[in-house]
Amino acid sequence: MDTFHIEGPVRLEGTIDISGSKNASLPIMAAAILAPGTTILRGVPRLSDISVLKQLLERLGAKVDRDNGDWQIDTSRIDNPVGEYEILRKMRAGICILGPLVARCGRAEVSMPGGCAIGDRPVDIHLHGMRELGAKIYLENGNIVATAEGGLRGKRIFLGGPFGSTVLGTANVLMAATLAKGTTVIESAACEPEIEDLANCLNAMGAKISGIGSPRLTVEGVTSLRPVEHRVIEDRIEAGTFMVAAGITGGRLRLRNCRLEHLLAVVDRLERIGVTVEATEDGCVVTRTGRIKPADVTTQPYPGFPTDLQAQLMAMLALADGNSVITEKIFPDRFMHVAELNRMAANLRKEGPSVIVAGVQRLIAAPVMASDLRASAALVLAGIAARGKTIVNRVYHIDRGYERIEEKLNAAGAKILRKSE
Ligand code: EPZ
Repeated sequence: MDTFHIEGPVRLEGTIDISGSKNASLPIMAAAILAPGTTILRGVPRLSDISVLKQLLERLGAKVDRDNGDWQIDTSRIDNPVGEYEILRKMRAGICILGPLVARCGRAEVSMPGGCAIGDRPVDIHLHGMRELGAKIYLENGNIVATAEGGLRGKRIFLGGPFGSTVLGTANVLMAATLAKGTTVIESAACEPEIEDLANCLNAMGAKISGIGSPRLTVEGVTSLRPVEHRVIEDRIEAGTFMVAAGITGGRLRLRNCRLEHLLAVVDRLERIGVTVEATEDGCVVTRTGRIKPADVTTQPYPGFPTDLQAQLMAMLALADGNSVITEKIFPDRFMHVAELNRMAANLRKEGPSVIVAGVQRLIAAPVMASDLRASAALVLAGIAARGKTIVNRVYHIDRGYERIEEKLNAAGAKILRKSE
């Protein structure tokens, strides 16, 4: 298992190119199932989660190749509509093959995804949406078995849950609805840019989706979809992570290939904290010169503050001049990073769905344990800002969602050494 050895404190200065979005790439790769033939995807990041989905698609019968950055996904033959536990347990986002498989093959057997470090990951709303479209669904040996003899039928479906909308639940139902007979209206749909990108790609394939980017998606079912070439959007969470990297180190980073309109809630909080974000023609320049000011943050579905940047912001607020309150409304257990940051002399106290962040003067290097992908990124940022050598264990978590993160940060002055233990 790899570890990161990080020397700090370092003030980051330089330019970072943002990669394509992991969370747009995963459902869009699954959407290729709906369009027999070869779909070409551009800008897909080199991440272990993407490799896992490639493996899953190949088990279904697809041929998946990467030709110098472009993915070629040939789904002419999908003859094994089964998503196996030994793959799904590694990457629960693989659940997004469910909708496309039922729509194309009339049946699917997909392992119930396990939980993960950020807590319980139910799929009840996914199954509710598929049943509303007419699929018969039951559980057998930990697998979801879904059938739809005679195909799916459009319907008005409410997809809201106790924590608001569901991103992959919307993706699954939206993809299935494109080939359903009649019209589907998805109420309380997720509005994340990754869903917008998926819907735009589906429309390019011949789907008829309107209301894109809104919580009400209307889908006129069609009889077939055709393969396309599509470039996935930039990764807003990677961009937000590097914005915080500039803020926590008091540096200056120019981020290229990022869209500020996807990060308005993040920019709002950063500016409150004393981090300046100036738009440029292809991204932004992020600087912090004064002290870090405290701020209260609550995670919400898009366009609210993203849960995927909660840990990173907490690392920075740990160094603020005063107290902040961070409340996690999407994944209430998503606080594995709290104990690790406290090992680095942060002063964090969990109170139910919130963490009270009492700012301290400095963080002190320590060996820490990565847990979920974003908590791990937070520990890397803390290590760059802390005094001494921080060792981050289980770096494979980071490789799931960040392309060459140590290379990008080292090019801006960080001192991160990857060691294979
Ligand atoms: C997507 O996960 C992202 N992953 C997550 O990013 C992100 O944190 C999350 O959306 C929220 O924005 C991908 O896109 C691959 P949800 P998803 O369904 O779709 C509850 C990362 O770090 N819920 O929007 O699985 C659920 O428990 C990852 O890149 C149900 O109750 O998340 C949660 O509390 C981590 N029933 C809330 O909804 C369901 O059937 C939002 O989850 C589905 C979800």
